[in-house]
Amino acid sequence: MKRPYITLKFAQTLDGRIAARDGSSKWVSGTRSRELSHKLRAENDAILVGIRTVLADNPSLTVRHVKGKDPVRIILDSALRTPRASKVVKGAYRVKTIIACAGRKPGKKSALLEKKGVQIISCASKKGNVDLKKLVHILYKTGLRSILVEGGRGVITSFLAAGLADKIVAIISPKILGSGTESVGSLGINSMKGAVKLGFKSVRHLGDDVICRYNVIAAKV
Ligand SMILES: NC(=O)c1ccc[n+]([C@@H]2O[C@H](COP(=O)([O-])OP(=O)(O)OC[C@H]3O[C@@H](n4cnc5c(N)ncnc54)[C@H](OP(=O)(O)O)[C@@H]3O)[C@@H](O)[C@H]2O)c1
Repeated sequence: MKRPYITLKFAQTLDGRIAARDGSSKWVSGTRSRELSHKLRAENDAILVGIRTVLADNPSLTVRHVKGKDPVRIILDSALRTPRASKVVKGAYRVKTIIACAGRKPGKKSALLEKKGVQIISCASKKGNVDLKKLVHILYKTGLRSILVEGGRGVITSFLAAGLADKIVAIISPKILGSGTESVGSLGINSMKGAVKLGFKSVRHLGDDVICRYNVIAAKV
């Protein structure tokens, strides 16, 4: 199956949290890492996040801290809960914005979002959420060749579980939370033998953060 090249990127504390218990993630990483995140956005054809990230952070998902082109914005949102007042919807006529949902029939919610310039793609999985394999294939057919998956945990976990990850960029910040949202949720792996295998690409520091890049060697779990 043809699909875009997929990079999973997240900023986590030293103890593996991408957000605190109250859902706040501003800011896990430092200023210089945030510039890197915007550079990664500009290098990819599309950026993808889950609805819970939109509800928690109301992100713009655009390129601002560096020069570069805004990627197509994609939200996984089974039941079309994305608020019409959110930044992604409000900017949809300026930056192409796709909401991937799991509804089978077009309805009032999709019509209202489409009126705001949002493109809706429906591809339901048997579980009732968005079928990632179908989605990335559709996105490939529309010409998208690279996707930066920015989280949150549910989305990162699903891409890994579906074997749909080629590269990981993990930003590790010198902070400890002790609780909160982990970067990756359960993959049903019980022993070290089953671990997702990664190949080292590079490590560097940016300000106080450490940037680790890996190729995913075997992601299917
Ligand atoms: N530090 C960082 O790098 C970073 C980056 C991004 C987000 N965050 C933080 O992460 C938190 C949000 O993470 P989260 O895990 O709660 O939510 P999330 O991953 O942003 O969104 C998950 C939601 O996406 C929808 N979805 C639809 N199809 C899916 C599929 N196939 N697989 C997975 N999800 C699918 C589901 O809701 P429906 O079924 O209703 O559609 C699901 O609950 C926030 O606190 C945010 O601030 C941190």
